[in-house]
Amino acid sequence: MTKPSILTTDLQAHIAKAIEAAGGWLGFDQFMALALYTPGLGYYANDSRKFGLMPAGVKGGGSDFVTAPELSPRFGQTLARQVAQALAATGTSEVWEFGAGSGALALQVLDALGPQLTRYTIVDLSGSLRERQRERLAAHGDRVRWATELPPQLRGVVLGNEVLDAMPVKLLARVNGVWHERGVVLHEGQLTYADQLTELRPPLEVPGSYDYLTEIHPQAEGFMRTLADKLEAGAAFLLDYGFPEHEYYHPQRNMGTVMCHRGHLSDADALADVGEKDLTAHVNFTGVALAGQEAGLQVLGYTSQGRFLLNCGLLDGMEAASLAERSMVQKLVNEHEMGELFKVIAFGAKGQPAWTPLGFAAGDRCHTL
Ligand SMILES: C[S@@+](CC[C@H](N)C(=O)[O-])C[C@H]1O[C@@H](n2cnc3c(N)ncnc32)[C@H](O)[C@@H]1O
Repeated sequence: MTKPSILTTDLQAHIAKAIEAAGGWLGFDQFMALALYTPGLGYYANDSRKFGLMPAGVKGGGSDFVTAPELSPRFGQTLARQVAQALAATGTSEVWEFGAGSGALALQVLDALGPQLTRYTIVDLSGSLRERQRERLAAHGDRVRWATELPPQLRGVVLGNEVLDAMPVKLLARVNGVWHERGVVLHEGQLTYADQLTELRPPLEVPGSYDYLTEIHPQAEGFMRTLADKLEAGAAFLLDYGFPEHEYYHPQRNMGTVMCHRGHLSDADALADVGEKDLTAHVNFTGVALAGQEAGLQVLGYTSQGRFLLNCGLLDGMEAASLAERSMVQKLVNEHEMGELFKVIAFGAKGQPAWTPLGFAAGDRCHTL
């Protein structure tokens, strides 16, 4: 029996056209870019709520996932201490935030730093989030602005929380001992995976010949090269979930890391309900560090989010916090929540004197990259 066509949404029809235009096969990275960022239709381009504490059906709910600045304002207030030190160390006075989501982190940093921050620029691929950010940040007036493209040179502290994981990845599948690139085709009216032979390989050899699925991250690495090229003075702090490459390409991680998030549930079926759920992959921090370093940035530190936030003084004044506040702060640092899977990596602009950011004062893990 022929399966019924599932191309019932405008986004699916748009992706089907892109597959046809590409000759019948679209790399997973191109599919992911369309699923997340097709203007007006992609997950980050539509009006759904996305960020928050609770799924639909619960009072105040309706979101798909929670990020650190949504959990507790102490996240941004603590990161602001790191930003203040970085501004002073690099003689800059601006923040550039990539992928600002609901504007929660921007608000926390702006409130915490006050007038010492002369400007806060948001760069986001999602135009639909801009209105939400504008409303939330209205009290900070002209100090906040939005950029649709980067200037030739950039001076300041760059922030990116959970941005690298939203950048499209290529899928590599070793099948019967032979490496393929996994892409998306239309088969009997359905979006389906199809593999084609490739010369591409993971950056680390995965021993054996058993079936193995993984990702490589050309877009995230390209982003680092662009940052290196533009950052004239300042530093960058990128926070996200992921691992160094020896953990990423571990022989036992044979199913890859691509995940979808909707209604605070996760699944691995990227081809179902396209545009209605977030689509992400973990970050290969070794690849990010090398791409930045080879393009001239200095790696200033790398550690877990838990360690970073504790070094920056997350717990100062917690004695006075309510139980509810304490439980949210715990989620930021507990190893079984965001404390260990999430990492922080920092870079300094080319040619600037090296300095040690507060967040890496104890427990730096650069040697594991
Ligand atoms: C998972 S959300 C994180 C939002 C927010 N930082 C937070 O922590 O709540 C990822 C965001 O990154 C944005 N994004 C992805 N790639 C980007 C890029 N190359 N430049 C700027 N923003 C990007 C997406 O549009 C989306 O708003």
